[in-house]
Amino acid sequence: MTNIAVFASGNGSNLQALIDAIGRGALEAQIKLVVCDRPGAYCLTRASQARLPSFMFYPQKYQSKAVYEELILRQLRERDVEYIVLAGYMRLIGPTLLEAFPQRIINIHPSLLPSFPGKDAIGQALAAGVTLTGVTIHYVDEGIDTGPIIAQWPVFIDPGETRESLEEKIHAVEHELYPKVLQEIFSKRRENLD
Ligand code: GAR
Repeated sequence: MTNIAVFASGNGSNLQALIDAIGRGALEAQIKLVVCDRPGAYCLTRASQARLPSFMFYPQKYQSKAVYEELILRQLRERDVEYIVLAGYMRLIGPTLLEAFPQRIINIHPSLLPSFPGKDAIGQALAAGVTLTGVTIHYVDEGIDTGPIIAQWPVFIDPGETRESLEEKIHAVEHELYPKVLQEIFSKRRENLD
C-alpha cells in the first residue's frame, strides 16, 4: 500500500477516479490527505464524502510559497505520505516540496505535452485548430508542465467538436489512465524496495 496525498483546486473528478479505483482494489494506495488551495472547491466535498482528511489553505494569506509549503510538508510527514499526486492543482510546486519529494510528485495534464502547457490546455488545443490532443502524466519539476513524461494517450478532435464534448473525452481518458499509471509506478517501487 502506498501512502499518497492528492492536491486539487477544482471539481476533483480525477480525485474521485482515484478514490473509486482504490475502492475497487485497482489502485493499491491510501489517500492520507487531500490538499486544496480554493475554499468551496468541489474536490473538498468529494474528500469529505469519502471520509478523507483534507487541508484547505488560502495561499494569499501567507508571506510566500515557502511558508505554506512548509506547513503542507509538515502534514505530509506526519501522515507518512510517500507520493504527491496532483489532480487539477493549478499552482506551481516550489522548491520546499520538490526537494522533499524528488521524483515523487506526479501530475496529469490535458494535452500531449510539450504542446499546450499551462492553463486551459483544452481551450488552447481547440483555438490552435489541431486534430489531435490528449493526456500526459509526468513527474513534476520547477517548470510549468515540463517534467519527465511517464505516459501519454491521444484524443482525436473531431470536426464540429465542442469544448464540452472534448472535455468529456479527455476526462474519460484521464480517469482511466491516472489510476492505471499510478498503480504501475507504485508496484514497481514496491518491487524495488522488497
Ligand atoms: C484535469 O483535466 C487536469 O488534467 C487539469 O485540470 C483538470 C482538473 O479536473 N490539470 C491541469 O491543467 C494542470 N496543468 P478535475 O478537477 O475534474 O480533476
